[in-house]
Amino acid sequence: MDIIETERLVLRPYVGADAQRVLDIYSDIEVLRWLGDPPHVPMHGIDAARERIAAWAEQDAASRHEVHLAAVPRGGDELVANVLVKRLPDDDQERYEVGWSAHPDAVGHGYVTEAARALLDAVFADGLDEVWCTMYPDNAASAAVATRLGLADLGAVPDRWYGGLSRMFHTTREGWVSR
Ligand SMILES: CC(C)(COP(=O)(O)OP(=O)(O)OC[C@H]1O[C@@H](n2cnc3c(N)ncnc32)[C@H](O)[C@@H]1OP(=O)(O)O)[C@@H](O)C(=O)NCCC(=O)NCCS
Repeated sequence: MDIIETERLVLRPYVGADAQRVLDIYSDIEVLRWLGDPPHVPMHGIDAARERIAAWAEQDAASRHEVHLAAVPRGGDELVANVLVKRLPDDDQERYEVGWSAHPDAVGHGYVTEAARALLDAVFADGLDEVWCTMYPDNAASAAVATRLGLADLGAVPDRWYGGLSRMFHTTREGWVSR
């Protein structure tokens, strides 16, 4: 995917120099506990961050719609957020979810909503038909992002991908364009 520019941000593929900021995010249990299924094992060491960056690049190269982007402020190079679209696990229908995290020192600036909005514009323009967004039911900060984006709120429902109950949001390309 091309680089995406928003009012305040540039969304671009990760570079090696992002590794420390990636490590900051994924070693912080206050971030990590909201991501995926337990156990939530903090990332350990800069090499693990470099490996994660390489793995994202491989995933993106191998898939038509997967994309992992670093959001940096225009004119800067410090990662403030990450946004992604990736395949839902164990899904034979090849459905996708959108996800996000803010760097701990960059929460509360609207960067994640701004970045995710631009990413969804891009993936829908690129032909994706629908996107899901699944989170722990008590993840109020993430639900606020999904709500600000205008995704349809399906409430707390059984999660066919991650198990248990999740707060689920969804949109189609048509729904996104006409929101
Ligand atoms: C979920 C998460 C990404 C939300 O981050 P966030 O910074 O609150 O989200 P946004 O970037 O959209 O910022 C919104 C906040 O910025 C504020 N803000 C400040 N300046 C702003 C501006 N210029 N424009 C828009 N919003 C602005 C908004 O008022 C809002 O604050 P509020 O929640 O106090 O009302 C963050 O809490 C996080 O990383 N959590 C851990 C990981 C996680 O849960 N990921 C999702 C898993 S499903």
